[in-house]
Amino acid sequence: MSTVSRRAFLGAGIAAGIGLGVGVPLSLGVSGSSSTGNLLRSRLPLPPAFRVSLPIPQVLAPVRRDAGTDYYEITQAPATATVIPGTRTELWAYNGTFPGPTIVSRRGRTTAVTHTNRLPVPTVTHLHGGRTPPDSDGYPIDFLYPDGYRPMHAHMTGDVQVGSRTYTYPLDQRAATLWYHDHRMDFTGPSVWRGMAGFHLVRDDEEDALGLPRELPLMITDRSFDDDGSLLYPSVDPTLQVTPGVTEAYLPGVLGDVMLVNGAPWPVAHVDKGAYRLRILNACNARRLDLRLDPQPADGLVQIGTDGGLLAAPLRHENVELAPAQRLDAIVDFSGYAPGTNVTLYNDFDGGRMHEVMRFRVGERRAASFTVPDRLTTIAPLTESQAVTTRNLHFARGGVGWLINGQPFNPNTIAARPKLGTVEVWRLVTDFHHPVHLHLAPFQVLSRGLSGPRPFDAGWKDTIDLRPAEEAAIAIRFDGYAGKYVFHCHNLEHEDMAMMGNFVTTA
Ligand code: C2O
Ligand code: CU
Ligand code: CU
Repeated sequence: MSTVSRRAFLGAGIAAGIGLGVGVPLSLGVSGSSSTGNLLRSRLPLPPAFRVSLPIPQVLAPVRRDAGTDYYEITQAPATATVIPGTRTELWAYNGTFPGPTIVSRRGRTTAVTHTNRLPVPTVTHLHGGRTPPDSDGYPIDFLYPDGYRPMHAHMTGDVQVGSRTYTYPLDQRAATLWYHDHRMDFTGPSVWRGMAGFHLVRDDEEDALGLPRELPLMITDRSFDDDGSLLYPSVDPTLQVTPGVTEAYLPGVLGDVMLVNGAPWPVAHVDKGAYRLRILNACNARRLDLRLDPQPADGLVQIGTDGGLLAAPLRHENVELAPAQRLDAIVDFSGYAPGTNVTLYNDFDGGRMHEVMRFRVGERRAASFTVPDRLTTIAPLTESQAVTTRNLHFARGGVGWLINGQPFNPNTIAARPKLGTVEVWRLVTDFHHPVHLHLAPFQVLSRGLSGPRPFDAGWKDTIDLRPAEEAAIAIRFDGYAGKYVFHCHNLEHEDMAMMGNFVTTA
């Protein structure tokens, strides 16, 4: 949508009196006060929990390799799959599956992914957590059109390519759990909801040297279904061609009533009596999670990493809060359980069916245990005194959208021009829950109001979980590439309704 039509759109909503501040009572936007969003009820009977086994996304094989680069190919197209037993669901999928295939890269080797778009709409692919040059970062108007695409309205465009597009990722960065997902301006929420998300893991020698146990990637998403098994989503324009956004009741965010892990409803994973590394991603559009295992393992959830890779030292948690887009890397040792024990992963933020996430069933077979070392890596703490600039950013609703410092996203407005090689402090202030994410530049959480960071703030982050009426200070290290990048709220309905800004890094 052009700036002009976006302004007209935001204005029309205000005129019609459907502004968030006008028609929707505040309480509607906060479900159980732990997520900002509204529940979208499925129209089919919800499937029973713990009947389907946990699927593991396929690891994608490169189509070729040369001295420095691994080449991959992904086709984006409609696909059908059984998500709810006994029904078929149309997805928008990467290589036909949801989650998409997992890409595994090695630090220092370039990964080149050629995407072909066979969907009826433009797409944009972003590698979340990647330190990526601007032309491959998936700027929200750098579209990949399907062959023969004719836009149904004049929309603002950046660098447009048609048919296929190659994204090049140098991946000169620490080992970490990254993920890729659609990032088209104004339409990211419905595209991700339809299935456009996958894991991209980066490995390196430092992490290998720890000899970490075998891993299970767990992508958690909440979704809602129509009575025929198709996905429900409250788009104003279900063609996702012209008018962005969701119907007024869902402006705070869309919360599903079916919990999917790796695309399966409330699945069961059969595990051996040994240690596992769980790489957990909250890929929900708006739902925050508060994860806990029951019965608790002796050590609880032993967190070894976060968005930006390993923590300096492990942290033992009973519960872990995880906002949309955040990742938790944790070791769980099942060797203390009797064979046959059901260990349930709960989400303590919600009651009813959304209280349960998935289950691990412990088998007879013994597997290696793992002693988590006291030191995992070295992280130089960033401090306020290193900062060359301090900026204030206010994330709040306005009109029928969501604004940063009073402004809706406009590709031509630059909020900050940080110099590469410097550290800046950004003070983030909120009205509701806003998981704020920066592209390119990892950060550390310095403070929350007058207190220090929360237990889940440790390490290098790319997304901070901000709660209502909260103020936090983050120290950001700008490094890597010069160019234009976005930062935004990762509640995808907020993002689509304009809670996004630009920063331009300069040499
Ligand atoms: Cu996960 Cu700007 O994205
Ligand atoms: Cu990102
Ligand atoms: Cu938000």
